[in-house]
Amino acid sequence: MTIDTPTHSRERPDHLEAGAVFPAGFLFGSATAAYQIEGAAEADGRGPSIWDTFSATPGKIVGGDTGAVADDHYNRLDTDLDLMAELGLEAYRFSIAWSRIQPTGSGEVNPAGLDFYRRLVDGLIARGIRPIATLYHWDLPQALEDLGGWTNRETAYRFAEYTRLVVAALGDRVPVWTTLNEPWCSAFLGYGSGAHAPGVTDGDAALRAMHHLNLAHGLAVQAIRELAPHAEVSVTLNFHVVRGDDSEAVRRIDALANRSFTGPMLRGGYPADLIEDTSTVTDWSFVLPGDDVIIHQPLDFLGVNYYSTTRVRIWDGVSPRERADGHKDAGGSPWPGSEHVEFLQQEGPFTAMGWNIAPDGLEELLVSLSDRFPDLPLMITENGAAFEDEVVGDRVPDRLRVDYLRRHISAAQRAMGRGVDLRGYLVWSLLDNFEWGYGFSKRFGIIHVDYDTQKRTVKDSGRWLAALIERRTIPE
Ligand code: NOJ
Repeated sequence: MTIDTPTHSRERPDHLEAGAVFPAGFLFGSATAAYQIEGAAEADGRGPSIWDTFSATPGKIVGGDTGAVADDHYNRLDTDLDLMAELGLEAYRFSIAWSRIQPTGSGEVNPAGLDFYRRLVDGLIARGIRPIATLYHWDLPQALEDLGGWTNRETAYRFAEYTRLVVAALGDRVPVWTTLNEPWCSAFLGYGSGAHAPGVTDGDAALRAMHHLNLAHGLAVQAIRELAPHAEVSVTLNFHVVRGDDSEAVRRIDALANRSFTGPMLRGGYPADLIEDTSTVTDWSFVLPGDDVIIHQPLDFLGVNYYSTTRVRIWDGVSPRERADGHKDAGGSPWPGSEHVEFLQQEGPFTAMGWNIAPDGLEELLVSLSDRFPDLPLMITENGAAFEDEVVGDRVPDRLRVDYLRRHISAAQRAMGRGVDLRGYLVWSLLDNFEWGYGFSKRFGIIHVDYDTQKRTVKDSGRWLAALIERRTIPE
């Protein structure tokens, strides 16, 4: 798939360009993830996860940062809930830390861990905010990693068991579940490039992990349907909008980044070209008969995370490592079998992550997904940007972030005008937080966090979002 190539074109009506009103029921909100904000790493029986181990390993995280304290959200729950209410958020997407529920990834439930999420969900509902719970946002219990982590098929069954425990306890109050967040990152950055926990650099391991994450997703959807039949179920994927004149390069990266998950989850099998492209790396013996049926489960919507675009071509003889591609620095490749594809420097402007700002990519992506999967509603489960923010008195004038959000929300609105069934838009992120390998050096929040004092300051982008939610139209 070139997911950015629509199979048919739709007219773009201009009545949605300026001043258009978002339909009733379209959800505006924000998103976070457990390890990035909670802190309280040892509180109430929480067990260690692969991110505790990885961030404690010298050289892995900028500045030696860890999520041990982060935003101390675990101890500041009510403050943060009140801030969400102050902004008028309609939905809040958070993740549940598996190792708070099962400290070693299997066995008895830890009631104190569960209680935190019960309080969170009840606090959201009391404030009229719709909870969207993600079951896995990268923090695998370390005890399971010690048994092979996602390269071990058994981990998928452990995930299904954990899902059952959580849904049995919270299914009466959580209306929307997401199985996995960005499984591409878990598999290919976790076990391929090694830039993410657990830091393995092995192409075969990355592809195995990919399959077991797909399997975990399918098993978890089945469990949620059984225990919470009225809930909505989704998965969140990070689509690569792959551009370039070299169709072979585009096809390869599209296969590894996008169709590796949409194939089995939404179509019922792995694409033949992906299997062929990776045949020098793995024999695919990890796929067992019947797995395709388990993975291919009906979903209520597809979560889309979008930040920027990617430009590729086949390697021209100059080592890609000498060129711009942050993902390769950790030693391994996140593109098993396609290491000869080169990632090109894009045109700016750029965010503080060095990612190009390309709202048109979001519009293309949404239209393309809707063309390919016409019966599947979409939700933007993450979009946002890191910039160098400055606190001025009690304000953070983050003009660049406001501009980024305005342009991307406009792009989403244009896509809706072209017929895309888009159900909501969630900003990444509510709070500045632990940005994985970049630690606290990159700030994505619409609320600023002073890490010395834990003081929260709503940025101008937060106020802007609040105005948008109130008026249901993009503010000037
Ligand atoms: C995707 C991830 O889901 C999230 O955890 C991360 O912080 C943002 N993108 C920004 O990189």
